[in-house]
Amino acid sequence: MSAMIDSSEMFRPMRADDLDQVIEIENESHAYPWTLGIFGDCLRVGYSCWSLVVGEELLGYGVMSAAVGEAHVLNICVRGKYQRQGYGRQILSHLIDVARVHSCDTMLLEVRPSNQGAIALYKDEGFQEVGHRNSYYPARNGREDALILARSIA
Ligand SMILES: CC(C)(COP(=O)(O)OP(=O)(O)OC[C@H]1O[C@@H](n2cnc3c(N)ncnc32)[C@H](O)[C@@H]1OP(=O)(O)O)[C@@H](O)C(=O)NCCC(=O)NCCS
Repeated sequence: MSAMIDSSEMFRPMRADDLDQVIEIENESHAYPWTLGIFGDCLRVGYSCWSLVVGEELLGYGVMSAAVGEAHVLNICVRGKYQRQGYGRQILSHLIDVARVHSCDTMLLEVRPSNQGAIALYKDEGFQEVGHRNSYYPARNGREDALILARSIA
C-alpha cells in the first residue's frame, strides 16, 4: 500500500506534539529506548527530526545531525505493525535527500550487530561497515558493540 502514497507528502518536521506518539513507538521498539528528554533535546538543538505521518497516525520517524559535510543518522524507527512495508527505506531515503540539501556528501550511522533487520536495510541501501565502537550500547548482559556504517551520498 505504501507504494500508492506520494512520500513527499508523508514527511513533516517533527513537532513537540508528536512526541507522545514518538515515545509510544520508541518504547515498543527498543529495550533501551530514547527518553522524552532526548527527543526534546534533539528538537531544541535543531537536529533534523522528521515524522512520517499518514492521516492522523505517526508511523515512524528519523533523527539526523547534518554538519560540515557529514550526516549522522541518530534514530530511525517504524511502528511495529507497519514494519516490512517499505517505510523504513522511505525514511532513510528522505534523510538522504535532506542531508544533500545540507551539502553533506557522507552519511554515517551506528547499529547493534544483533539488529539484523536494520543492517539488512542499510546494506541494501549501499551502506558499508567502516568500523565499530566497543561497548557502545547497553545490553541485557552488559554492553554491546556498535557497528559503524557509512555511504557516500554525493
Ligand atoms: C529497522 C527498521 C527501521 C526497518 O524499517 P521497515 O519499515 O521495517 O523496513 P522496510 O520495510 O523499509 O525494509 C526495507 C528492506 O530492509 C530489509 N529489512 C528490513 N527489516 C528486516 C528484517 N526484520 N529482517 C530482514 N531484512 C529486513 C529488507 O531487505 C527489506 O526489504 P524487503 O522487505 O523488500 O525484503 C524497523 O525494523 C524498525 O523500526 N526497527 C526498530 C527500531 C530500529 O531497530 N531502528 C534501527 C536502529 S539502528
